[in-house]
Amino acid sequence: ALSDIGLYGLAVMGQNFALNMASHGFSVSVCNRSPGKVDATVERAKEEGDLPLVGYKEPKEFIESLAKPRKVVLLVQAGAAVDATIATLSEFMEEGDILVDCGNEWFPNSQRRAKELEPKKIMFVGMGISGGEEGARNGPSLMPGGPKEAFDALAPIITKCAAQVNDGPCTTYLGSIGSGNYVKMVHNGVEYGDMQLIAEVYDVLKHVAGMDNDELAATFGDWNTGELQSFLIEITAVIFSRKDDLTDSGHVVDKILDKTGMKGTGRWTIQEAAERSTAAPTMAAALDARYISGRKAERVEAAKTLTGPTDIPKVSKEQLVEDIKAALYCSKICSYAQGMNLIKSASNHFEWGVDLGECARIWKGGCIIRAAFLDDIKRAYVRDPELDNLLVDPDFTAQILERQASWRRVVTLCVASGIAAPAMTASLSYFDSYRRARLPANLVQAQRDFFGAHTYERVDKEGTFHCLWDDTHKDIGDVTGRI
Ligand code: 6PG
Repeated sequence: ALSDIGLYGLAVMGQNFALNMASHGFSVSVCNRSPGKVDATVERAKEEGDLPLVGYKEPKEFIESLAKPRKVVLLVQAGAAVDATIATLSEFMEEGDILVDCGNEWFPNSQRRAKELEPKKIMFVGMGISGGEEGARNGPSLMPGGPKEAFDALAPIITKCAAQVNDGPCTTYLGSIGSGNYVKMVHNGVEYGDMQLIAEVYDVLKHVAGMDNDELAATFGDWNTGELQSFLIEITAVIFSRKDDLTDSGHVVDKILDKTGMKGTGRWTIQEAAERSTAAPTMAAALDARYISGRKAERVEAAKTLTGPTDIPKVSKEQLVEDIKAALYCSKICSYAQGMNLIKSASNHFEWGVDLGECARIWKGGCIIRAAFLDDIKRAYVRDPELDNLLVDPDFTAQILERQASWRRVVTLCVASGIAAPAMTASLSYFDSYRRARLPANLVQAQRDFFGAHTYERVDKEGTFHCLWDDTHKDIGDVTGRI
């Protein structure tokens, strides 16, 4: 009999996702460029309970083993490997068939591939997948974007294989091609922000409050039962409690080199934020923090001469833990507000029609940023799908106002102690900029007009104005209005 779906690309993510589909009763054909992985996957399917999975070593046989319209999921490395795989497989595919790329792909690549497949009438879907290897096997968050018809054909399978939360499976139709990759890209930007915020909290608790790893594990464990409940807080508690087996002394976390790696999706998020003229300072700060961490040798040198404050303020540990919990929560709200608004800008620009409430909902389970408060975000967008900013949702406004004194105390403490808290500080500045009816941008406009005759608008009159600012600068630009 023909298989329900095919999966090409059998690294661990691919193997796990194939087994996930098979364990939901769907018959799965698998194939891989190097055939050894095919045998390994078939073996695993046997071991995990004789799952309905058949291995193929030839692309042609693999494609021919699928029921029409053929659905082929790709889990190969993003970039050139995807193009090569599409070229190989599409040769044997027909009108109405569906290719689904699950890589962390730069969204314009998916848009291009969809176009390239148009003459053959093969439908192309870019589907973000989050949750790592474990999620792929037991229920990831799936973020598909492509033709609605393709989504409808995939839905019976992917709604079963995705993580399940109280209000449904962690997948939904996001919009046309590119939207799925985009939402996954922003997910990763938000992931960078969350991770950096947690790292800053760690820095303060360790270096100002003097907490050891056991206390940190207990604090994060405790936070994971309340408003901060999330996968990243949960794993952070586990990380702090992990002893170092390799040397049999101390904790692993203290032995890890302080240099953060990255694969690139976080950088794309910031590039895109700039492209869409949308502020994303928390995520940008997280990205910069990774870059600075990478300059380890320079920092070691600089640390010899660039001293910080010696007079570190004394604080009560209990008060600090309470304050920092509030500060982390407020900072997270700002970061998610930025992420949601970035998706909104792109969705408007590309006419994807992404439902932001649904977006928050499908992140509630399976993915790396899964968190209790995504339910509040979902509710905010259900209440008002056109919400300008999460900060002005009445629930979030109340939550922030209740905590802002704590938030400011923490940021002040960081500054006074010489502890860098770029993401938390960026979040607070975002809040303080957004909540001001009048910003000092009037002065920047005046300067622009002074040196470049870039003109300005006024608060008291309609129109565009330009000013001859002083006697020595009479010869600047065109005068389109005159005070
Ligand atoms: C996920 C993750 C994953 C990502 C890693 C590494 O949702 O499962 O986002 O897709 O590849 O988190 O990202 P960096 O190497 O850029 O930190």
